Amino acid sequence: MNLVKTAPKPDTLTNVIDRTFSIAPMLDWTDRHYRYFARLMSANTLLYTEMVTTGAIIYGNGDYLAYNEEEHPLALQLGGSNPKDLAHCAKLAAERGYDEVNINVGCPSDRVQNGRFGACLMGEPELVAQSVDAMKQVADIPITVKTRIGIDEQDSYEFLTRFIDVVSDKGCTDFTIHARKAWLQGLSPKENREIPPLDYDRVYQLKRDYPHLNISINGGVTSLEQAKVHLQHVDGVMVGREAYHNPYILSQVDQLLYQNDKPQLSREEVIELMLPYIERHIQQGGRLNHVTRHMIGLFQGLPGSRSWRRYLSENAHKTGAGIEVVKGAIALMNENAPS
Ligand SMILES: Cc1cc2nc3c(=O)[nH]c(=O)nc-3n(C[C@H](O)[C@H](O)[C@H](O)COP(=O)(O)O)c2cc1C
Repeated sequence: MNLVKTAPKPDTLTNVIDRTFSIAPMLDWTDRHYRYFARLMSANTLLYTEMVTTGAIIYGNGDYLAYNEEEHPLALQLGGSNPKDLAHCAKLAAERGYDEVNINVGCPSDRVQNGRFGACLMGEPELVAQSVDAMKQVADIPITVKTRIGIDEQDSYEFLTRFIDVVSDKGCTDFTIHARKAWLQGLSPKENREIPPLDYDRVYQLKRDYPHLNISINGGVTSLEQAKVHLQHVDGVMVGREAYHNPYILSQVDQLLYQNDKPQLSREEVIELMLPYIERHIQQGGRLNHVTRHMIGLFQGLPGSRSWRRYLSENAHKTGAGIEVVKGAIALMNENAPS
């Protein structure tokens, strides 16, 4: 298992990232607050930013590349299809210290299609290859691609391998494959994460046929036991929704998947460590719920978790709310949990 990862080609040695387990890029969800929170629970997991468009970085007013140092290893996901713009943004990302830049070739939303990027780029492998090439020339960090197994009627294995052939030919060695195709018309992005059936075997086949490439699988993984099974077939597992809704799953990743025996933090310890972070955020003009909205699922499945969720949802958005709300939510949860 994982021979490719443990025996990297010499010319890529300086840029090796362990992609055994990663958290998927998720718009509005994997912002820097969520990533800081996630990092407390797992030191090894590779974290992805939300997709950031090249347009936002180049023409926007905010600093779309800001992150906390603690978040490493950290990959920036870019949305775009202009090789020059992608290269410019990859260069900025490398200068800012990102560990990887990933190109989004999997998002099916209309807005993204109008910009001619995301999943529809699967139909333009030469353009993706040209972008990878341009990006690699200016950024000395891995340039990777996240894609699907097909789009619309173009869902044959040959369609997928042609995409991989053309893009890897320009030096992309790391692919994450969401193991379902996307319908570009008629389904919402949410439906496109649920309706097209998962086909894990197709991704396993890809790894067998391209043993020299680093292939990660994504889609529908809800436990570390499942992740372990996938890792018998591919190099990495990327988890999205489960890592968000049930974040404490991350606390076992280092031990179970990385053989790292550092003791895991309890949920209460995670909260303790979030408090100074939240205070800093508020002092800088931020609001409590910017951070706590990502912590709602921390007690998922435990008695009292509803009180935690409800108290935070009802109080964290209020003007002037501070860490006392978090402490109040814990107190209420403890009161309501059966002893
Ligand atoms: C709220 C949300 C936002 C997402 N945003 C992105 C995104 O910005 N870029 C991307 O490549 N995929 C995005 N995705 C898709 C996920 O990265 C992932 O491929 C998908 O959720 C399947 O993995 P899962 O079954 O583990 O959730 C998003 C998914 C969700 C639920």
